[in-house]
Amino acid sequence: MAEKPQKILRINDLSVDFRSEDGHVHAVRNVNLYVRQGKTLGIVGESGCGKSVTVRSILWLHNIKETKVKGEILFTKRSGEQVDIAQMSLAELQQIRGNEISMIFQDPMTSLNPVVKVGVQVAEALEKHQKLGRREAKERTIELFRKVGIRSAARRFDQYPHEFSGGMQQRIMIAMALACNPSILLADEPTTALDVTIQAQVLKSIKELQAQTGMAIIFITHNLGVVAHLCDDVTVMYAGQVVEYATTRDLFAAPLHPYTQALLKTIPRLGMEQKKLEVIEGMPPSLKKEITGCAFAPRCTQCMEKCKTQAPSVRISADGSRMVRCHAAQI
Ligand SMILES: Nc1ncnc2c1ncn2[C@@H]1O[C@H](COP(=O)(O)OP(=O)(O)OP(=O)(O)O)[C@@H](O)[C@H]1O
Ligand SMILES: [Mg+2]
Repeated sequence: MAEKPQKILRINDLSVDFRSEDGHVHAVRNVNLYVRQGKTLGIVGESGCGKSVTVRSILWLHNIKETKVKGEILFTKRSGEQVDIAQMSLAELQQIRGNEISMIFQDPMTSLNPVVKVGVQVAEALEKHQKLGRREAKERTIELFRKVGIRSAARRFDQYPHEFSGGMQQRIMIAMALACNPSILLADEPTTALDVTIQAQVLKSIKELQAQTGMAIIFITHNLGVVAHLCDDVTVMYAGQVVEYATTRDLFAAPLHPYTQALLKTIPRLGMEQKKLEVIEGMPPSLKKEITGCAFAPRCTQCMEKCKTQAPSVRISADGSRMVRCHAAQI
C-alpha cells in the first residue's frame, strides 16, 4: 500500500480575536486543520467566515497590537524539524516567510511594487533567500517566468507591473512565490479577479507547477467548482469555525454538514460567471457576539431543538479522514 503523505502543516485549536474600537471580533474559533505534503487543501465558505484570517495566521500577517492569536501552527521544515510557528520570533519567521511558505493574494497589484521592474522584484527575493549572485538570480528569474507561462521572458524581465495584464501580473506573483521552492503555497483567491479563461489557465499552471515541485497548497476560494478541479482535501468554514473536513471525493459524494450540502447546491461552474456564494437563505451570525448553540442553526433546514442551545462537538470518522461539527450528521 502506498504510504500516506505526511502532514506538513497542522493547525491545532487556532483562535484569532481582533480588538477594535467597537469591541472584539472572534474571527477564528478553535480551528483544526491539516495539509498533506504535496497535496492541495481547499478552504471554502461564505464571505467573512474566517478563511483569510486563518491562512494569514500561518505567516503571522496580522497587526500584532490588535490581534490575539491562540493555538499551535505546527510546520515541518525542509530540514525535517517540526516547529510551532505560533511560538516563533520575528527573525525565525522571516526565514520561513517567502522561503519555505509563500503566499499569493487576490490582487497582485497590492503585492507588486509599481516602480520596480518585475524581474528585479523576483530576482531580489532569490538573492535574499537563496543567496544567489545577481546574474544567477536573473537567469533563474527568467527561467521561472517561462515556467509560469510568461512568453518572451527575457524581455519581460525589464518591464514594469503596469505593462502586464491582470493574468500576467498574477503569474509574476506566482513566479515570485515559487522562487524559493516553498513547501507550501498559500493562495487566497488568487484567480477571483481574473476573467474565467485566464483563471482556468492560471489554475492549470499552478497544478503543473505543483506536479513538478511537490509543494502543498492551501487554496481559498468561493468556487466549489474550483475545489472539485484542484483540491485533494476540503475544509468548510462557517462563522469562524471548521464545520466539515474531508477529501474532495468524499465531500462531493456525501456532504455531511447541512451547510456543506447547501453550499454544494450553489456551485458555479468553471467557465460560468463568478458569483459569491450568497444564495443560502439568511446571513451568517455576527462574530462580535458569543454564539449559543450551533452557529448555523438559524439557517439550517435540519435544525433540532438542541441545536439552538448546545454547540455541537466535533465528530471524527473511524479512520480519521473526515470530520464534521453537527448534531444531526451521521459519520
Ligand atoms: N484586521 C481586522 N480587524 C477586525 N476584524 C477583522 C480584521 N480582519 C478580518 N476581520 C473580520 O474577521 C472576520 C473573518 O474575516 P476573513 O477576512 O477571514 O473572511 P473571509 O472568509 O476571508 O471572507 P472573504 O470571502 O470575504 O474574503 C470578518 O468578520 C472580518 O470582518
Ligand atoms: Mg478572504
